[in-house]
Amino acid sequence: MTTREEAARLDAAGPATGWRERFALPEGVVYLDGNSLGALPVGVADRLVRVATHEWGRDLITSWNPTAAGGDWISLARRVGMRIAPLIGAAPGDVHVGDSTSVSLFKTMVAALRLRPGRRVLVVEPSTFPTDGYVAAGVARLTGAELRWCDPADPAASLDDDVALLSLTHVDFRTGAMYDLPGLSAAAHEAGALVQWDLCHSTGAVPVDLTAAGADLAVGCSYKYLNGGPGAPAFTWVAPALQPDLDQPVQGWMGHASPFAMQRDYEPADGMRRMASGTPPVLALSALDAALDAFDGVTVADLRAVSLSLTDLFIRLVADRLPDVEIVTPREHERRGSQVSLRHADAYGIVQALIARGVVGDFRDPDIARFGFAPLYVRHVDVLDAVDHLVAVLEAGEHRDPRYAVRSTVT
Ligand SMILES: Cc1ncc(COP(=O)(O)O)c(C=O)c1O
Repeated sequence: MTTREEAARLDAAGPATGWRERFALPEGVVYLDGNSLGALPVGVADRLVRVATHEWGRDLITSWNPTAAGGDWISLARRVGMRIAPLIGAAPGDVHVGDSTSVSLFKTMVAALRLRPGRRVLVVEPSTFPTDGYVAAGVARLTGAELRWCDPADPAASLDDDVALLSLTHVDFRTGAMYDLPGLSAAAHEAGALVQWDLCHSTGAVPVDLTAAGADLAVGCSYKYLNGGPGAPAFTWVAPALQPDLDQPVQGWMGHASPFAMQRDYEPADGMRRMASGTPPVLALSALDAALDAFDGVTVADLRAVSLSLTDLFIRLVADRLPDVEIVTPREHERRGSQVSLRHADAYGIVQALIARGVVGDFRDPDIARFGFAPLYVRHVDVLDAVDHLVAVLEAGEHRDPRYAVRSTVT
């Protein structure tokens, strides 16, 4: 059994030394929900105040161009994309930032179908995050494509000559299980299909090398492990070889080759800038830009090492101390992301009772309690505390308190 002293030693000796201080976390809270909403990095609040008061309030519209205070809002999305690129194995100019993940999925799915005109099937995994399936169904309805649900245990089995795109989520939001990104990318290519990866639960915690894997398209949000704040804009990546033929459906002025020429006819910009549609969300992008400072000098390999050490410890302690609780997350390192999910009939009550004790995880219908281990700020001592509280909740039956029977809108 790991003692608190041993856990504290692991925190002090590991590569994570100094990472947690980059976040403004409330005292006494064990935050295990960075897989849903990342914590607030220090520097973000000041940046938002500065952008609001100096750039917007004082410099007004001149801030679209470079100013003494900073400004240069027009290139902000591209600059933020350049900072996300190394986290996903992308070249700096190949990441567009600006829409929600859902809208990004719509644009990339339609674009992918247009890149494979002789094929009409879109393969999606049925237990993926709902928005991926909803958007795919909408795209199928709009384009006349066929939506084919694959077997989650074997997505490649659904590939054939008709498949234009295999669209998968790298790390599952419910279970934390991770797909073999290079292997399934290769399988899609063997069938002549394109492959798209939803990296919402990967980026910032799990190594991803889209270039080495030969992937074609990817999207991901920035409010989870990237800590960009609630509703922070998502990113889109498309392999450089596909960009010249990329034809996305929401062709707007910001994706035009010369937006300020105000021409009547649409002419797409070169490269990933054509993925833009409308005016970029400058305040949200500014928050995300400041949040990415938390990754300065941090390698993805170190993030992964810390993440695995934390999740290994949590899994081991839960298995030892709560043998009746089902751990649904795979034990093998190569098959899991940075969260651990537990199945329990009273999962909602358990999560609420833990939150009341200052241990924040979340619940996913029907019976999953999720615990995210954001390696930038979760420590081994937090893992110990969380499991102590979990054991105490279950032993005392706190999760059966009638207060926790009523579900909030957001669980
Ligand atoms: C895998 C996955 N895709 C997409 C989303 C959400 O998309 P959006 O940014 O449009 O809300 C989530 C949100 O948790 C997610 O987990």
